Amino acid sequence: MSDVSAREQSRRRWEASAEGWGRRRGEFQAAVLGLSHRMVDWIQPQPGHRVLELAAGPGDTGLLAAELIAPGGTLICSDVAEGMLEVARRRAAELGITNVEFAELDAEWIDLPTATVDAVLCRFGYMLLSDPAVALRETRRVLRPGGRVALAVWADAMANPWMSLRVRELVRRGLSEPPAPGAPGMFALADPTALAELLADSGFVEIEVEAVDFLRSHESLAAYWSEARDLGVEFARLTDALAPAVREELYQGLGEALAPYTGDDGAISIPARALMASAEA
Ligand SMILES: C[S@@+](CC[C@H](N)C(=O)[O-])C[C@H]1O[C@@H](n2cnc3c(N)ncnc32)[C@H](O)[C@@H]1O
Repeated sequence: MSDVSAREQSRRRWEASAEGWGRRRGEFQAAVLGLSHRMVDWIQPQPGHRVLELAAGPGDTGLLAAELIAPGGTLICSDVAEGMLEVARRRAAELGITNVEFAELDAEWIDLPTATVDAVLCRFGYMLLSDPAVALRETRRVLRPGGRVALAVWADAMANPWMSLRVRELVRRGLSEPPAPGAPGMFALADPTALAELLADSGFVEIEVEAVDFLRSHESLAAYWSEARDLGVEFARLTDALAPAVREELYQGLGEALAPYTGDDGAISIPARALMASAEA
């Protein structure tokens, strides 16, 4: 597949996921709010700053910063998928935040002039891109000298059973291909040393990388399954296409795989680990 069609297919998948991400916004954001606070602390927003959020999705991290750059500051909330921006627009309206511009931007080709933003935020975005190095060089280009980027990506699959168990159960039944090593995806930037090197190779200095552990919680297997379908349009498509008996067998198998993380009341509490990084342009 050419890079262009891989990029376009990815954009379409995210566009199709936007409705589900909107539905799950509250739950997912509650689980990862601590990461957003850490990212916003790193960029030290000041009144008057211009802050760019890339791959913003529902926009929660940037909207935290928007309140801190008022008066006079502007948040540019951007994403490649217009549907995601619509979710972010609704959230900004709910919060009464008005110092925000919404922009359909591709993180690999940031359509903004050089050295025009004070900080960039990107939570769970760079590892999904066809070429994260290009996106990081673009990030550095739009930052003013001394401006900071703060980002989060997922740590390795072993540290994220909330996702990797699901993938393993699909792969071992031959229902999906194992993720190709090095391909864009959740775990593509999971090596902390490689992440620091990538930032350095993109021209950043004062690089910090840290791992953050947290839990993903679901009240039941049904709730876990339903969230997986809302946040992962591929999982939804794949499971919709299965014969009912195969789908039921997968569901039960997932329940067995999740048993070590399931309490007597059926609630699931399962580990997750993100890598967070900050660097100066
Ligand atoms: C895993 S979601 C994360 C959303 C949000 N940052 C969060 O943490 O809740 C990934 C987001 O990246 C966006 N995205 C994917 N490829 C992109 C690209 N090339 N440029 C900009 N955004 C992109 C998707 O539309 C989606 O909103």
